Formats: sequence, structure tokens, C-alpha cells
Amino acid sequence: MAGEPVRCTLLLLPLLAGLTMAGTGLSQHLRVEAIDASFLLKWDWDFQRNPNVTFSVDHCFPSSKKWMKMEGCENITTLECNVSGIDKYVTTEFRVSVYNSQTGERSFNFVEFHPRKETVPGPPTGINMTIHNNVLYILVEEPEGLHLDFLRGHIWKYELEIWKGLKKTEVITKDADGPHFRIEALETSTTYCARARVKRADPDQTGLYSKPFCITTAPGSYATELAIGLVFAGVIVMSGIVYVCLCPLKRYMKHVFFPKTKLPSSIEQCLQDSPRPCIKNPFLFHEEETTDKCYIIESSPAGNVTNAPEADGRDSGNYSNEDETGVARA
Ligand SMILES: *[C@@H]1O[C@H](CO)[C@@H](O)[C@H](O)[C@H]1NC(C)=O
Ligand SMILES: *[C@@H]1O[C@H](CO)[C@@H](O)[C@H](O)[C@H]1NC(C)=O
Ligand SMILES: *[C@@H]1O[C@H](CO)[C@@H](O)[C@H](O)[C@H]1NC(C)=O
Repeated sequence: MAGEPVRCTLLLLPLLAGLTMAGTGLSQHLRVEAIDASFLLKWDWDFQRNPNVTFSVDHCFPSSKKWMKMEGCENITTLECNVSGIDKYVTTEFRVSVYNSQTGERSFNFVEFHPRKETVPGPPTGINMTIHNNVLYILVEEPEGLHLDFLRGHIWKYELEIWKGLKKTEVITKDADGPHFRIEALETSTTYCARARVKRADPDQTGLYSKPFCITTAPGSYATELAIGLVFAGVIVMSGIVYVCLCPLKRYMKHVFFPKTKLPSSIEQCLQDSPRPCIKNPFLFHEEETTDKCYIIESSPAGNVTNAPEADGRDSGNYSNEDETGVARA
């Protein structure tokens, strides 16, 4: 039924031949703008040449095969008529008549309209844009018109226009079967704008474009580089700390578990006489060993005792202490 031709025009043709008069000249540009469920029948008119006219719209569909007045579109002076009330599943023919009340002239023009084939979906309701790992993910929201019963059954694809900056200089157009798009290798501090529409191949039909939606990338995404740098710096600092802490510990362990078989000569010397003052700290490392020298005090020929330079109470390692002097002097 949908593809059935409308017969109204043919039946009227002989009659119309006499009615259409030169001079009234109703523009040929008669068309139906069908977006979603809103159908507007439009035409042009040169009011400069032909003022004082009124328009009337009639419609005819296959089952009725006769002209019926289009409600709200009788004796109007506007250049459009809202014909949304028609049956959306069949082909409808429209007739626009122009009537000049002063001259009594009347002229007609006709147009056929198939809602299912000619209706275009409105714009997508929105575009979601998110940036993740320097990739722009775009999700186009489905136009509401795709849910209309009489538009069901068509396969719609998505078309995206994307450009950098607010001026539309270089526009990239991308097609996808679904509403998802991916834009890779984004530039920093750049505004990306996009608009989208749906389209189908057979019959060739494109929906309306959405308004543009924009997103701006972060300035200088050197976060990765910075993180790597910080990790490197951290590793270097930690190595330094570990080195500084571990070396003495290592030496300490070495001394504890693997003491040198040969003691420092000074200690050895001391041991021969009296071990106590010399080995006050057996765990002292060789390098850190106090530089106290063991003074072998020999009785001077004069019998004087030569004391070590350090005369304070500190154990200097010499034999100048009171209780030791006896030994030293022995
Ligand atoms: C249009 O109608 C007005 C009155 O409604 C009249 O004055 C005018 O002359 C008419 N114009 C033409 C071109 O007929
Ligand atoms: C339109 O005009 C015609 C005469 O030109 C008249 O018979 C008819 O009633 C008018 N219709 C409306 C809705 O005004
Ligand atoms: C046309 O009429 C329908 C109701 O039949 C309405 O929903 C729609 O908004 C109207 N369109 C315009 C452009 O006035």
C-alpha cells in the first residue's frame, strides 16, 4: 500500500488545464520538510508581483482517491502549512491552490510525499566527549526520531565532523556504524569540536547535524615524563642513602664475623704488655681505630718518667695512669 501511486492528480488534470492561468505563477518549489514527526508543506510566492492572494491546501491519499481540505490551511496567507496530521504510513499527495480574490484567478500545484522515505531524523541530542590516555572518546546520543514507529526498520549510520579550534578550518569527517568514535594522538591545550548526524544509504537520507560540542585538552601532558624523572631521581637518592648506610655496616659485620688475624701493630704491641687499655674497644674498625699510641715508657737514664702529652683523665693508651705506672716502670 505504501508505494501505491496517488491518483488524485490524474483525475483532475483535464479540469486543471483550464484553471491554471498564466500570471499567477505558483512557484514550482513546492516541498515537504519532514523532520521527525513534524511535516511542513512549504512553497514560494512572489508577493511583489501578486499580492492579495490566499492559499489553500488539499490532500489526497491512495485509499480515498479524492481531495480533502487540510485542516488549518484554508485561505491562508503564509507560505507553509503544518501537515503533521496525515497518515505517516502511506504516500500522500498535496495540492496547493492560489486564489486571487480580486481577479478571481485560481492556480494549483502538486507534490507527492512519502513520510517513511522522506522524513529525516532530527539532530542527535548530545555528544559526550571524554579524554583518556590521550585518546578522545566520542559517544553520539541517538536522535529521538529514530524511535518513531514509522521510521523503524532502517539502518542508520553515524557521521562525525571534527575540527580543531573554534574556527572550522580543517574539518575531518568520520563515518561509523554505531555512535562511538575515537580520535587518537591529541594535541595539548587544544580545543576539539565535533558535530554529528545520522544517515542511511537506501534511500539516501541524512539527518540534521547536532550543534557543535567542544572539549579542550590539558596543557602539556608531561605527566608521564615527570613521573619517570621522579622515579629516576628517587632511585638515585635511595642508592646514595643505601650506600652511605650500608658501607659502615658491611665493614662492621666484616670485623665481627671475619676479624683480621693480624691485629693492628699498636694493639699487638700493647697486648704484649697489658691488653686492657689498648683493647678498650675491640670492635673499632681498623680505619677508625683511635690513634692512641702505646707509649713504651722506658726508664730514662735519669730515672724520669716521660708522660704522654694528653694528661687529662681520658685513657690515652699510654702507661701514665697511676695503677699502670707500676707495670710500666717494671
Ligand atoms: C490588494 O488589496 C487591497 C485592499 O485589500 C487593495 O487596496 C490593493 O489595490 C490590492 N492590490 C492589487 C495589486 O490588487
Ligand atoms: C475561504 O474562502 C472561500 C471563498 O474564497 C470561502 O468560501 C471559505 O469559506 C473560506 N474558508 C475559510 C476557512 O475561511
Ligand atoms: C505541527 O502540528 C503538530 C501537531 O499536529 C505539532 O506537534 C507540531 O509542533 C506542529 N509543527 C509546527 C512547526 O508548528
